[in-house]
Amino acid sequence: MLPRHVAVIMDGNGRWARKHAVGVALGHRRGVEALREIVRYSSDAGIQVLSLYAFSTENWSRPQAEVGALMRLVEDFFVSEIEELDEKQVSIRILGEIGALPDGARKAAAAAVERTRDNGGLQLNIALNYGARDEILRAAKRLAQEAAGGFLHAAEATREDFERHLYTASQPDVDLLIRPGGERRLSNFLLYQCAYAELVFTDKLWPDFTAEDFKEALKAFDSRERRFGGREA
Ligand code: FPP
Repeated sequence: MLPRHVAVIMDGNGRWARKHAVGVALGHRRGVEALREIVRYSSDAGIQVLSLYAFSTENWSRPQAEVGALMRLVEDFFVSEIEELDEKQVSIRILGEIGALPDGARKAAAAAVERTRDNGGLQLNIALNYGARDEILRAAKRLAQEAAGGFLHAAEATREDFERHLYTASQPDVDLLIRPGGERRLSNFLLYQCAYAELVFTDKLWPDFTAEDFKEALKAFDSRERRFGGREA
């Protein structure tokens, strides 16, 4: 079966750059090329939601030049890809607080979201200035505000009430999480939504990750038996 929601931690750009003795900005640039290929493939394959971890709340601590290069790539991506994405009916959502991004990246991202809002194809989530713990805390605060305002009985709050305040509101849980780059951890990405996600790790560095590797991960997912805490059928 095809997963409805695939999440990807795009890791290994820095190591790819070191391996090829080039600057880290070029590693990230190659990372964007890999991203483009995976978005295209997902859209054509009929995947419902694709979530990509582009910039975490912790990534601000990287050297300023690297942060600047990443932000320019984000801006370029939204400006140069929007035409094709819109044509493919891709709908873009940003996960994270984009208010903190530099003007250019923030405006390009907001414009892409606005332009593709009503599209009915692939839902493309780009996580920018995102952290799962912050997301969960933000949702908890909003739920508490609803209760304080008398819009909700706190004791009767349901998971659905809570999930409406996540960035992924109305989207299905993550079915498959893919992490290239050799590390085997979640790094604060979609912790709530990954409760029953199947995890696929590969040592390939993200810039080397291709549609073929993505297909392999989909195949691995298809062979897994998912029980969601129950017994096998
Ligand atoms: C991790 O590699 C990757 C990132 C922190 C950035 C990922 C971003 C992109 C691929 C491009 C920008 C996104 C958009 C939407 C255009 P790393 O640098 O941590 O690699 P390392 O672990 O080998 O150092």
